[in-house]
Amino acid sequence: MSDENLTSAPLPMSLLPDSAEVGERGELRIGGLAIDELAAEYGTPLFIYDEDHLRSRCREAVTALGEGTAYASKAFLCVAMARLVNEEGLHIDVASHGELHTAIVGEVPGPNIVLHGNNKSDSELSLARSYGVGRVVVDSFDELDRLRSMHQKDGIVTPVLLRITPGVEAHTHKFISTGQNDSKFGFGLESGAALEAVEQCRQNPGVELFGVHYHIGSQVFRVDSFARALDVVARFFEPLELSELSVGGGLGVAYTESQSAPSITEWGEMLRGACESLGVKARVSAEPGRSIAAQAAITVYSIGTIKELPGIRTYVAVDGGFVDNARPMLYGSEYTTFAPSRIEESRVVKARVVGQHCESSDVIVQEATLPEGLAVGDLIATPVTGAYGYSMASSYNRMPRPAVLFVSKGSARTVIRRESVEDLMALDVQ
Ligand SMILES: Cc1ncc(COP(=O)(O)O)c(C=O)c1O
Repeated sequence: MSDENLTSAPLPMSLLPDSAEVGERGELRIGGLAIDELAAEYGTPLFIYDEDHLRSRCREAVTALGEGTAYASKAFLCVAMARLVNEEGLHIDVASHGELHTAIVGEVPGPNIVLHGNNKSDSELSLARSYGVGRVVVDSFDELDRLRSMHQKDGIVTPVLLRITPGVEAHTHKFISTGQNDSKFGFGLESGAALEAVEQCRQNPGVELFGVHYHIGSQVFRVDSFARALDVVARFFEPLELSELSVGGGLGVAYTESQSAPSITEWGEMLRGACESLGVKARVSAEPGRSIAAQAAITVYSIGTIKELPGIRTYVAVDGGFVDNARPMLYGSEYTTFAPSRIEESRVVKARVVGQHCESSDVIVQEATLPEGLAVGDLIATPVTGAYGYSMASSYNRMPRPAVLFVSKGSARTVIRRESVEDLMALDVQ
């Protein structure tokens, strides 16, 4: 965030989960619980999800994006999340053995699972096929060959979608842009690979082709990017007379006070309108990830060190870092911060919020504003950390990963317990 965009105003409630409210002490409460009390009980760093917010976004997605819409579980997954998504009527998109296994343990029925991956292993495909997943999204000719060989051995016909790359550049960071021609994902439209893949599917007894999938990228704010991609794909798709079209995920969310994003409902209206005008008759579905989970959570940290560099800046170091939020380091993503015990106060002190790892790039908020007088031991938090936060967490420097709570209507439950040093040591062969 540039300096002129920095605000000293209190954090806007719009960046917080739906149930956020201010308590009598001026403290932030989510799900009816005081954040500072949760931090005292469960320790920091701590991810706190508003369970009702998650449920409400899932329901909004089912209504707005249609039957077969799948939550992109890479945004955030654990067994409790898989169960929640399933209870709210969304399907689930998984992209690895671990995500698939989690969905299975969460008792998501096979037909409601979509398996992705540009390099699926035989064991991932075998597990998916034996569990009866609803769709495998095929990404390469090698994968089609593999499904043919598997069918020769076990007779199982795999229901598939083909992932295509429409050659449309999304307006987003290049690392999360996936729909362009030069991509490791899918079959290119322009090169003719997509049409060749459709023809191969029709000759392949190991697969039943239901439709086409594409995903142009993530954190896309401009609905015209989605509309352009749909326009290109519809021209290819309509003559094929297939029954399903999945437009992937990618709807952006606001992380800071200077950003704003369309809602899931608005995204759905745009997609429906565009499909109507393009004459798309197939079942259209999507795969929202970030827009379901991001604003549902905050991450709470404790301040460990405050370092004033006169004439340069103030560094506020917390007990987490890029291991629990890799996005600033990976994509230069912007975040904002606040003090959960003093949520209504102006944030007049400029600082850089950093983690505790041995990397200078371990920065959580480059240009933060905080209330005056914060001291070592106080809490600060970052909002909008529910997507691609915990799911990208690592244990660099052998730092155990944080705990994750779901809160709702006055009660909290641990859905992922805090990692311990013993957990880390469990893999070492001594
Ligand atoms: C195939 C696919 N679908 C859906 C998503 C979810 O995107 P988002 O979380 O931006 O909605 C992704 C994200 O990378 C993806 O690769």
